[in-house]
Amino acid sequence: MKNIAILGSTGSIGESALKVIREFPREFRVVALSTNANCAKLYDQVREFKPLFVGVSDLTAAAKLRKKVSRNIRFFDGAEGLSALVSQKKIDHVLMAISGAGALLPLIEAIKYKKQIALANKEALVMAGPLVMAAAARNKVKILPVDSEESAIWQCLEGENKRSLKKIYLTASGGPFKDKPKQYFRNISIKEVLNHPRWKMGRKITVDSATLMNKGLELLETMHLFGVSSGMVEIIIHPEAIVHSMVEFNDGVVMAQLSQPDMRIPIQYALTYPERLKNRLQAPDFAKLNSLTFETPDLKKFPSLGLAYAAARELGTMPAVMNAANEVAVEEFLSGGIRFNDIPEVTAKVMRRHRVKRSPDLSAILCADHCARTDARKAIEDLN
Ligand SMILES: NC(=O)c1ccc[n+]([C@@H]2O[C@H](COP(=O)([O-])OP(=O)(O)OC[C@H]3O[C@@H](n4cnc5c(N)ncnc54)[C@H](OP(=O)(O)O)[C@@H]3O)[C@@H](O)[C@H]2O)c1
Repeated sequence: MKNIAILGSTGSIGESALKVIREFPREFRVVALSTNANCAKLYDQVREFKPLFVGVSDLTAAAKLRKKVSRNIRFFDGAEGLSALVSQKKIDHVLMAISGAGALLPLIEAIKYKKQIALANKEALVMAGPLVMAAAARNKVKILPVDSEESAIWQCLEGENKRSLKKIYLTASGGPFKDKPKQYFRNISIKEVLNHPRWKMGRKITVDSATLMNKGLELLETMHLFGVSSGMVEIIIHPEAIVHSMVEFNDGVVMAQLSQPDMRIPIQYALTYPERLKNRLQAPDFAKLNSLTFETPDLKKFPSLGLAYAAARELGTMPAVMNAANEVAVEEFLSGGIRFNDIPEVTAKVMRRHRVKRSPDLSAILCADHCARTDARKAIEDLN
């Protein structure tokens, strides 16, 4: 029986993880759940899974929920509360399903307390990959990827000699606007952006998938998880989203991982690793698949991808700055304040102004994140 904490349990990944756990009641026990502010959903989850610990980051929401939950459940509130929650002895595994930069500090804390990590969040590695990976190595903690592409790469590399690895193909569905002309981007509505052709996900990652920044964030995530340079990672558009990524070895062999686009698959693998437990999910039906197609991404149409390659070459504080500016711009787009094609423009402007600090420690990264958010808000004001 594995004792699991799901941070961000009210989100898309959190809910998919709970679906996986419902299928395997003898394998897993949910000991902790958390939300930012969605107390109604968290309350339902608490009633069903009866965790020992609950975390609510938003203080107003926390004050409301605290009155409703049983006194036997230990309650943690605020961002610091989440870091205290992950230190609890009764937690073996932490599934990090918080979106955005808010995952970084609880992730580092969970690693410090030697919890096994199933990592869905990508922003924390983008911001502070070297620090997170060094902390994991120091504490002998495994970071098991949940992101479907990184899970695919991990599965393709299992048992292989890393020195034989020549290249990683990181696949991307291309999002809803792959075939639209550039002129169309100016007037894209929020509704169109949130209508992803292959995946049902949280709002922030759905916008990132439409700009292709999601793939840019994964470029950095891949570099840190597998210790490769940006030059070893080729991003390739694969609209059917059946091949979740591929690795090429130096003998000309390419290995790929294929499955239906359903996040329960990589979540289950990260939670049950090294076992593969039988479930009710179907493998792809090859006779029904007409074709699997691949194409190179158009960097002119999707400048966010170029920004991520630039940040990946620069490293230091630049990826954290790119991530922060993008988070602010996406939030502003989702609240109707800027256009879709302003998102990369705001991000690029903030990155251009930033003076990179090499080998930053955690406080330098948090400081760069903070300044980039202020700069992004200023860049947004300048647009209007
Ligand atoms: N969804 C996918 O298919 C998918 C696939 C691969 C990777 N990922 C990655 O997994 C992460 C989660 O994605 P998602 O789609 O599940 O996002 P989501 O649906 O927006 O859910 C995010 C979860 O994190 C909580 N949260 C957000 N900000 C927080 C903060 N500052 N402090 C504490 N909790 C916070 C949310 O609480 P509220 O409910 O109160 O907002 C919610 O529980 C992202 O980093 C994403 O890139 C997602």
